[in-house]
Amino acid sequence: MTVLVTGGAGYIGSHTVALLRQRGRDVVIYDSLELGRPEATLGAPLVVGDIADAELVKATVAEHGVDAVIHFAAYKAAGESMEQPGRYFANNVAKTNTFLDAAREVGVPRIVFSSSCSVYGTPTCLPVDETHPLAPESPYAESKRMVEDMLRWYSVAHDLRSVSLRYFNAAGAAASGLIGEDWTVTLNLVPLVMKAALGRVPQLTVFGTDYPTRDGTGVRDYVHVDDLADAHVRALEYLEAGGETTAVNLGTGVGSTVREVLDCAREVSGVDIPSLDAPRRPGDPAEVYGDNRRAHELLGWRADRNLSTIMASAWQWHSTHPDGYDAAT
Ligand code: WQD
Repeated sequence: MTVLVTGGAGYIGSHTVALLRQRGRDVVIYDSLELGRPEATLGAPLVVGDIADAELVKATVAEHGVDAVIHFAAYKAAGESMEQPGRYFANNVAKTNTFLDAAREVGVPRIVFSSSCSVYGTPTCLPVDETHPLAPESPYAESKRMVEDMLRWYSVAHDLRSVSLRYFNAAGAAASGLIGEDWTVTLNLVPLVMKAALGRVPQLTVFGTDYPTRDGTGVRDYVHVDDLADAHVRALEYLEAGGETTAVNLGTGVGSTVREVLDCAREVSGVDIPSLDAPRRPGDPAEVYGDNRRAHELLGWRADRNLSTIMASAWQWHSTHPDGYDAAT
């Protein structure tokens, strides 16, 4: 049977599609290509459409014999969502609701949902485990919590079970070097460090050097995108084996500071990447890293790749694709 991957032409989606196919699973990507790139699909079957186009969703499920969905399609910039909450709730929540009803109506029994550690807000204790209170601090994070809540009720009312995967900081690129992050659609640290390394921006701006952390800069849990892809396949297998609806953290359990990321990037690239210390970015917690014991217990998942591997894979991708998918060197 086939896995339908919404947003499968995007960053984590394309890496998950590649792994599913590598493991012999049939896949169909469903992507509007508003943010996704057809080059990232590596030739996988692609249906270009809006997740709220119920008739196309139902037709795609029927035509491809879909019996599972991995739902990535969403807007993901927390800062942008603070300025455009309506756009985020319309796209990430309302459209997902229409999508879920269409999938349910044609009997899709299981969904893996791309959620986020940002549902926890600023941690009140570390490491963050799944019992930590949910306190979203942006419309983006709120939209992820709302869909998780929807999925819990769909599980109660219908035979539609799901796993919501709460990513910490996704980073890096496929070991194959064929796909990676499209840095035109992200403001995250690692792609910005790579832009500075390649001279696409004058320097990396370090947001905050006075945090109560080991070197004064922000701490985050960077998890390799290939490790995240593995977790999605395992979550699918958990549901196929009859697993109940739940939510799981995906992090390494290890925090890295901005300076450590920058130093690691300098080491793997051989470039003395310029940086500029600046005031804290509003809304940034000092320290966030995850407790991944539940992912190991429930899915048998462990993040195998460390920060050095993450940064080396990011450098391999960005240095050979300085214009992303537009032109490889
Ligand atoms: C990381 C650190 C910044 C840019 C992300 C996703 C969010 C969620 C959680 C999935 C912070 C610092 C950054 C820069 C910097 N994941 N920084 N200079 O804010 O942790 O959130 O992970 O849903 O969606 O956005 O990620 O990469 O923006 O910041 O100093 O130019 O790097 O202050 O400490 P964040 P980020």
